[in-house]
Amino acid sequence: MLIALTGTPGTGKTTIAKILEKNYEVIYLKDFKDAILYHDEDRDADVVDIEYLKEKIKKMRGDIILEAHYSHELPVDIAIVLRCHPEELRKRLEKRGYGERKIRENLEAEAMGLITAESINYHGKDKVFEVDTTKKEVEKAAREVEHIIKTRDRKYLPRINYMEEILKWY
Ligand SMILES: Nc1ncnc2c1ncn2[C@@H]1O[C@H](COP(=O)(O)OP(=O)(O)OP(=O)(O)O)[C@@H](O)[C@H]1O
Ligand SMILES: [Mg+2]
Repeated sequence: MLIALTGTPGTGKTTIAKILEKNYEVIYLKDFKDAILYHDEDRDADVVDIEYLKEKIKKMRGDIILEAHYSHELPVDIAIVLRCHPEELRKRLEKRGYGERKIRENLEAEAMGLITAESINYHGKDKVFEVDTTKKEVEKAAREVEHIIKTRDRKYLPRINYMEEILKWY
């Protein structure tokens, strides 16, 4: 089973994937350097070749977690989207030294639930799960992700909505 561990930058994908390495094979898609087409200077982000990654994962067998904010664009069995309240996400991204424009872009994407919406488009609602990482121990969030992989607990189907946060910005 291929599992996409996705979410807006700063929601906790790498942190949680590192914990899950104890029990699962984890592939960090950014390690496929050949998949990087170019660096978008304007958005300060790499643009990756999804078709190339599709070829790479084709031969993979067993339970494998694919970690990246674009892993849900691949033909996975389930997508687990990490979520974070925009106020908390701002703090996490500021700590990294991200510029205001990049912070805004990511907060908007998170408030809109962009990655969840994309994941549902690709895979259908019953294959997309969300874990809220706001005010939660990283170990607890990792246990929830593992629980979803094992049980596909419908309690974690998409339901998080931070839309009202956007209204506060205007
Ligand atoms: N419950 C939680 N789960 C995951 N991370 C958390 C949680 N609570 C706080 N954090 C913190 O949030 C930050 C998440 O950063 P991390 O690098 O894991 O994000 P990411 O999703 O991999 O981002 P990127 O897409 O840019 O690689 C870490 O500093 C982590 O300690
Ligand atoms: Mg990461």
